[in-house]
Amino acid sequence: MMNVAIVAGGDSGEYAISMLSGKQVEREIDRGRFQPYLIEIKGSSWSYNYDGKDYPVDKNDFSLHLAGNHVHFDVVFNAIHGTPGENGKFQGYLDMLGIPYTSSDVITSALTFNKAFCKNVVSRYGILTPHSVHLFKRQQERIATLTDTISLPCFVKPNNGGSSVGMSKVTSVEQIPAALELAFHEDEEVLVEEFIRGRELTCGVLRSKGEVVTLPVCEIVSKKEFFDYEAKYTKGMADELVPAPVPDHVSDECRRISKSLYDLLNCKGIARFDYIHTNDKFYFLEVNTVPGLTEASIVPKMITAHGWTYTELVTRLIDECL
Ligand SMILES: Nc1ncnc2c1ncn2[C@@H]1O[C@H](COP(=O)(O)OP(=O)(O)O)[C@@H](O)[C@H]1O
Ligand SMILES: [Mg+2]
Repeated sequence: MMNVAIVAGGDSGEYAISMLSGKQVEREIDRGRFQPYLIEIKGSSWSYNYDGKDYPVDKNDFSLHLAGNHVHFDVVFNAIHGTPGENGKFQGYLDMLGIPYTSSDVITSALTFNKAFCKNVVSRYGILTPHSVHLFKRQQERIATLTDTISLPCFVKPNNGGSSVGMSKVTSVEQIPAALELAFHEDEEVLVEEFIRGRELTCGVLRSKGEVVTLPVCEIVSKKEFFDYEAKYTKGMADELVPAPVPDHVSDECRRISKSLYDLLNCKGIARFDYIHTNDKFYFLEVNTVPGLTEASIVPKMITAHGWTYTELVTRLIDECL
């Protein structure tokens, strides 16, 4: 039996979603092979909750002391969306201890979590991405002259964020200051990005048994202005259609680009690539290296459409990183 630490929680607006992802993995994991321990990571408090009691993690070697039993982990299943699980910080800690984990490594996580830096690299590989301006809080002059460089409508988003927290769609110059304030409240860096009108498509990719597998493409049809926090997490506020109702050549192209990006960015585990598709062109928005794994999340729908069970996904992700 292998001991698996499922880490969840984290220190962002995605804390609650991450806990749900972690619990779903704990529920679905193959108990015949794996003994799961759901570990909550929150600030400096890392703990395993069992029978209503919290057991702190021993950070010296990422182990647990449970009533006379010292538990070490063979592998970590990473279910932390946002910091510190999706930006490489936790990966660095695990690398230092030599514990394998199911997601991308330090450099890939750090790069891809930074939307602006990631877009720069992706566009060097010849893939389109919306024009954008990357601003740091200290750059007051650039911020003041922003309207000269960006066309409207645009999106203003925290550069290192997720779940659409702190993000707004701006249609007039007067809305820019408030949008910047909202985004800078979440992050020291902000991305101001050209709005692309089109259909939103997303593709899940993983490596398993020596092969890069692309999952059926999903179309996101939000009932809100865009796929904002409410649309993401309120039942009925968005349709997530898998397989996407688009012509085969469109979904094939989406899978082809996603597979090549997965490889070029050296992703590990399951990653989900988001695009806007318009005029037969794909505009890369971002890649999620720890995508949602709750019952209602997109990846589980893709997995079902692919003909796998959730349990099989978890098993494949663990086997692949060992
Ligand atoms: N440049 C853009 N053009 C059109 N829609 C966008 C653009 N950027 C973001 N969106 C919309 O906002 C949503 C969230 O943006 P995204 O960059 O993926 O941030 P997050 O990391 O919060 O998911 C997308 O799913 C999409 O609906
Ligand atoms: Mg997104």
